[in-house]
Formats: sequence, structure tokens, C-alpha cells
Amino acid sequence: DGYEHLRVERHGPVALITLDRPKALNALCDALTVELTHALDATEADDSIGAVVLTGSAKAFAAGADIAEMQPKSFTDVYLADFITSSWERASTTRKPIIAAVAGYALGGGAELAMSCDMIIAAESAKFGQPEITLGILPGAGGTQRLARAVGKSKAMDMVLTGRMIDAEEAERIGLVARVVPSSSVIDEAISAATKIAGFSRPAVLMAKESVDRAFETTLAEGMRFERRMFHAAFATEDKTEGMGAFLDKRKPSFNHR
Ligand code: HXC
Repeated sequence: DGYEHLRVERHGPVALITLDRPKALNALCDALTVELTHALDATEADDSIGAVVLTGSAKAFAAGADIAEMQPKSFTDVYLADFITSSWERASTTRKPIIAAVAGYALGGGAELAMSCDMIIAAESAKFGQPEITLGILPGAGGTQRLARAVGKSKAMDMVLTGRMIDAEEAERIGLVARVVPSSSVIDEAISAATKIAGFSRPAVLMAKESVDRAFETTLAEGMRFERRMFHAAFATEDKTEGMGAFLDKRKPSFNHR
């Protein structure tokens, strides 16, 4: 696949994307984010992929945006380039489910990248933080928004204003991560969750993801209406006939994603 800062592997219907820039703890330099956007475009376009896992190394999921690259940039540089949303928003716009498997540091833009995935499975070694304030800036890719929605005002303020890192146990307690697992099995656990998801009806999975995402973007009444429309739409799929038929026949369903 020819990437410099990523590895992409297939595990059946799951694509595993590994950030691989060890000399900078996977700091998200421009070249890495361009490659990540490209890799996510490719997984979206490939019908044989049902879900994606995004991970880093045992030491760092990603230690943030690349500080050496940012240091010389002026306001006009970052404003005109729309740094950094244009390239980083890709994970949050994937239609297929994407799970972040986080070990070690997920800081600044690294935490924001993990939060822009659909769920985070954390290793016991995971550490999350928004240390931007220590650099004289503030989070710029969801660290004030997705974090506040995920953990509430007080915890978000604590992390954003003090730059304090939290460990995996605290991250699970406050609802930032879905599960905490032993560090040695975090990738396996994420691949196994992704494989399970990929085996379900693809249209049902995508409608479910789209509906949960609505909860963060609209009012309850609108969200309920959207969910109900999606729910009704699911009754038009072959997979609904198969799923319910298999239950009644006491056999395993075989979804054809139609
Ligand atoms: C560039 C980085 C980096 C980063 C680490 N490195 N983080 N380079 N950008 N964000 C480099 C170090 O310079 C060092 O390079 C090498 O990686 C190893 O890091 P060390 O600091 O030596 O490791 P350690 O002592 O174990 O400390 C780990 C750490 C620390 C606690 C994670 O590296 C750290 O605090 N990093 C910065 C975290 C941060 O502030 N992130 C937020 C960035 S701002 P050399 O060449 O010396 O070996 C951000 C804004 C996003 O993300 C906004 C989006 C719009």
C-alpha cells in the first residue's frame, strides 16, 4: 500500500490501520494525516470491508499534532489552510464503523482522533489528555466539543484547562471509553468487536451508527423521528427477513448485506 507512516492489514472483513511513526510517538504530521485520509477513503470504497480498527503503538496511539510542524505557523497559515479539520475530519465522516484501539498516550489531536471514532477500546496502559493549554493553544479538532459531550462539563473543563492526563480506569469511569482491556489484547479485542459488527447486516449497522450519531447533533424529538424512519427502512431489507427468519428457525442468520 506504500504508506510511510501507516500500516494497513486485513483481518477478514476488518481493516486494521496502524499509525506507524514511532520516532515521534505517532505525532500527526501533515503527511500522516494525508495518508490516513487516503487509507480511510480506500476502506470506505471496499465492499469487502465491514468495519475498521484504528490503532497506534504500545507506547502511543498518537501524541498529538506535530508540534515541530506547528511551531512556525502563523494565524494566516492555519486559517487559510483550515488547519486541521480538513484532513482530520475523515475518521468522523466514515460511514462504516471505526473503533479506536488505544494503548499508551492519546494526547491533544491524538485524543481528538480517538474521539472522532465510533468507540474507544482502551488498553490498561492508555492515557488521555488535552495538553494544548500547556503549549499556549487550545484543542482544535473536537477536544472542547466531543470531549464535553462524552464526559460532561466539569471533567472536560478539568482536562482542557489543566491539561491533566487521565488513565484508562478514569476514562472508563467517566464514559470516554467503551471498555478497558489488558494492554496485550487491546488490538485483538478491537478486531473481534469489529469482526462481530462486520458480520451483521451492513445496512442495519450503518443505519444504527447514523442514528446514534444523530443524538449528538439534534434535538431528542428530531433524533427519535430519525431513528423511527431508519427503523422502518430496515424492514425493507433482505437481511431483516433473514435475521428474523433465522431466529424463528433456530438457526444462525446469514446476512447478505442487502
Ligand atoms: C512532535 C513529538 C510529539 C508531538 C512527542 N514527540 N510528541 N514531536 N509533536 N506532539 C517526539 C518528541 O519530541 C521526541 O522526539 C519523541 O517524540 C519521544 O518523545 P519524548 O517526549 O522523548 O517521550 P516521553 O518522555 O516518553 O514523553 C511522552 C509524552 C511527551 C508525554 C507524550 O512526548 C509529550 O508531552 N508530547 C507532547 C504531547 C502534546 O503536547 N500533545 C498535544 C500537541 S497539540 P526526539 O526527537 O526528542 O526523540 C495538538 C493540537 C491538536 O495536538 C489540535 C488539532 C487542530
